[in-house]
Formats: sequence, C-alpha cells, structure tokens
Amino acid sequence: MSDLDITNLKEEIAKSLAEVRTKEELEALQIKYLGRKGVLATLTQGLSTLPVEERPSRGRQINALKQSIINLFNEKLQSFKPQEKKVISFVDIGLPATKQELGRLHPLTQLIREICIIFSRLGFVVVEGPEIETEENNFTGLNIPLEHPSRDAFDTFYLKEQKLLLRSHTSPVQIRVMKARRPPLAVVVPGRVYRPDALDAAHSFMFHQIEGFMVDKNIKFSDLKGVLEVFARAVFGKDIKMRFRPHYFPFTEPSAEVDISCIICKGKGCSVCGRKGWLEILGSGMIHPHVFKYVGIDAEKYMGFAFGMGVERIAMLKYGIDDIRLFFENDLRFLRQF
Ligand code: PHE
Repeated sequence: MSDLDITNLKEEIAKSLAEVRTKEELEALQIKYLGRKGVLATLTQGLSTLPVEERPSRGRQINALKQSIINLFNEKLQSFKPQEKKVISFVDIGLPATKQELGRLHPLTQLIREICIIFSRLGFVVVEGPEIETEENNFTGLNIPLEHPSRDAFDTFYLKEQKLLLRSHTSPVQIRVMKARRPPLAVVVPGRVYRPDALDAAHSFMFHQIEGFMVDKNIKFSDLKGVLEVFARAVFGKDIKMRFRPHYFPFTEPSAEVDISCIICKGKGCSVCGRKGWLEILGSGMIHPHVFKYVGIDAEKYMGFAFGMGVERIAMLKYGIDDIRLFFENDLRFLRQF
C-alpha cells in the first residue's frame, strides 16, 4: 500500500461520512472500515506479507491512518448527539431585562415627612439635632432636676464619655435652638430617641419623635390647641375630636397630654382604646420659665408652647398596626403595603 493509497482511503472515508444521515449508516460504515474484518484489519494483516525491514514503518503508517479514521468517525458521531450547552459569557440582548424593583420610603419616613409638611404650612421650620446629647441639653436645661426618676441611669443610655448620653427625647433640640436663635421661633424636630426598654409589641429601645415649639411675645395655650387641632385633622381626618388632659412635664407649665377620639370606635369604647374612647397621642404644654431662663430668653417678655409626639404610636393608630417591631424587622411583606 502506497502513500497515495492511504490518502485515497482517507478521502473515500471522508466522502462516505459526509453522506451519512443516520446513526445506523454510521455504524455500518464503521464496521466496513474499522470492524474485525474491515479494511483496516485487512491492511494490518497484510503486514506479515511484507519484508521484515519494511514492517515497522508500514505499521506506523497504518496506525496513524487508523487513528485519523477513528477521529473522523468520532466527529461524525458527535454531530448526532444533542448539543451540550456551553457556558458562554456574553450578554444576550434578546433576553428580557432583569426587572428593576423601584424602592420606596419606609412608612415612618413617609409619615415624618407628611407631619413636617403639615407644620411647615403653618410656618414651622424643620430642625434636626444630634442623637448623642449632653446631660445639660437632655435634662438640666429642660428643668429636669438631678433627682428626677427619668435621669436615673435605668431610663437613659449613658455613654462612657462623661455626661454624654443617647437622647431620651427630642426636647433637647429646644435648648439648642433657643440658645442659638432668638424669637419669634416656630420649629419642628423629627428624630430618633433611645430608652432602655425591653422590646415588646409596644416598646422599642429606639423610636422616633417629632418635637414642636413656638416662642413669641404673645403665644397662648389656645395657639397650642389650634395648631395641634390642624395637625390631628390632617393626619387622622377632619372628624377627629381632641381633648387636653392635665399632666406633668418638668419643662412645661401648665402641661397636658393630648388624646384623640378613638379612630376605631369613634369614642364609644373598644379594645384598642381600652373602653375609654380616647387615645393618647402626645405630650405638650407652655414652656416653663426655668427653660427660658436657662437659654437666656426673657420669660417676662416671651411665651411659648411645646409638644412632643411618638411617630411609631401615631403610625400604629393611623394604620391600625398592633406591633411596633414590624417597623424595624425589614419584612418586605409589611413594608410594601405603604
Ligand atoms: N419630651 C416629652 C416626652 O418625651 C414630650 C413633650 C415634649 C412634652 C414637649 C411636653 C412638651 O415624653
């Protein structure tokens, strides 16, 4: 067998393979060339008829031929197999795009903004203060004496640094603003506050308040009532009723807690309002002369009111939420409702 024969044989096989359409045809061809009595086997057998010195080189030629034929058959066989998916890293611009979820503001942020807007329409400016406060701003300036129970370490998170703490209410911003600016003042202060309360459905160690205060020459308790009524109607609807209950805060005199008529039973008495018909929503009063004195405002010339509300509480009443923890657990099933 000459080199030419080998080339011809390869070409012949390649041609036949090109015409093969089914696996069965391929098998038949495989038997014809590579089978026990196939063309290649016959060639190998023919080696023994050659002179001994020619056998090794002829043997190598036949082996090489056999290997290239096997490769050709394998290639053909591959074409019958279902194409395996190759991992190809390119962007298929024909695919539908990944949906971009639009985020939204947290319900508390939404409510804080809503309330601040209500007060800005009445002429209030929005001011923020730091969450780490001094004992002076959080207590002393607000006429909370040393022996007052809320000053006790159990009610306030104290920091290692001397006389610093996590503010337990937003009222210290009254001190900051009144020290820095002169009346007339009309300010609302949204922000986080901290108290070492055990976590349950009604308590959290961190929650939000909105403080408000107004100081001018002739601010009366009736101004406080009027402003809070506008606020309560805007948040809870215009049919809401309010009542002022005498209370005590060291930094206001007189002081009052403010209730709204129960939004569930409309005042008749139910489980939400504890059969009282009223829901407490905030603390308020006329700014105490001691506070004015502390910040250097003439209490003979100026008067003012202040109030402070818990945002979570307002939100829970407004939306009928019965567990404060829902605000802080980042459960999208809850958050997506707002
Ligand atoms: N700071 C008070 C509290 O956290 C609320 C309050 C603010 C009361 C302003 C009166 C005036 O309970």
